[in-house]
Amino acid sequence: MSGPNIIPLDAVDPALVEALLDRAFEPERHKRTAYKVREGMDWLPALSFAALDESGMLVGTIQCWPVALTDPQGRAHPMIMVGPVAVLPELQRVGYGQALMTASLAALNPQAPLPQVLIGDPEYYGRFWGFTNAPTAGWQLPGPYEKHRLLARADNLAVLPREGVLGPWRR
Ligand SMILES: CC(C)(COP(=O)(O)OP(=O)(O)OC[C@H]1O[C@@H](n2cnc3c(N)ncnc32)[C@H](O)[C@@H]1OP(=O)(O)O)[C@@H](O)C(=O)NCCC(=O)NCCS
Repeated sequence: MSGPNIIPLDAVDPALVEALLDRAFEPERHKRTAYKVREGMDWLPALSFAALDESGMLVGTIQCWPVALTDPQGRAHPMIMVGPVAVLPELQRVGYGQALMTASLAALNPQAPLPQVLIGDPEYYGRFWGFTNAPTAGWQLPGPYEKHRLLARADNLAVLPREGVLGPWRR
């Protein structure tokens, strides 16, 4: 594959994005816990991207959301929730997912990147970008999830609270 064409997600018709997510995930995707974590939030245009193939067809998307981990003292620690990352099933494993993830992570503010969190396969997100479930064992989400798949990434993992509840970022 010659380098994928990555463009801002807000340049794409929202109906096409929804159709792609329906193809990449099960129809019940809206009930996923990840959707509850970011409920009521809009995705962040500066961190959300689309991948196009050589013909200009939409083949993948990534969305990032403002969320916060509220610690036992009631302090909200803002974070970026990454995902869904979605690539058309017939075009998976040729590099689009990596290109989309790399675009979002590269768009974080280099002076003060917020910690990032996602629910996904540690083998994939750990191997390429260093996401780890090490800091998240004491975190709670508003619904069921597989604990080992709650992953975080930060310049300094030691600053992340050990305990907290993850939810939408309401200032
Ligand atoms: C997960 C997903 C985004 C990955 O994107 P992709 O374009 O298929 O993957 P890439 O081409 O960027 O990366 C390919 C490499 O990652 C590996 N990889 C891909 N998905 C993986 C996974 N779930 N677990 C472990 N490794 C994985 C491949 O084996 C390949 O490694 P190799 O080059 O050594 O063979 C894509 O498969 C997808 O949309 N899946 C369905 C939706 C989903 O589950 N999204 C993630 C949760 S939000």
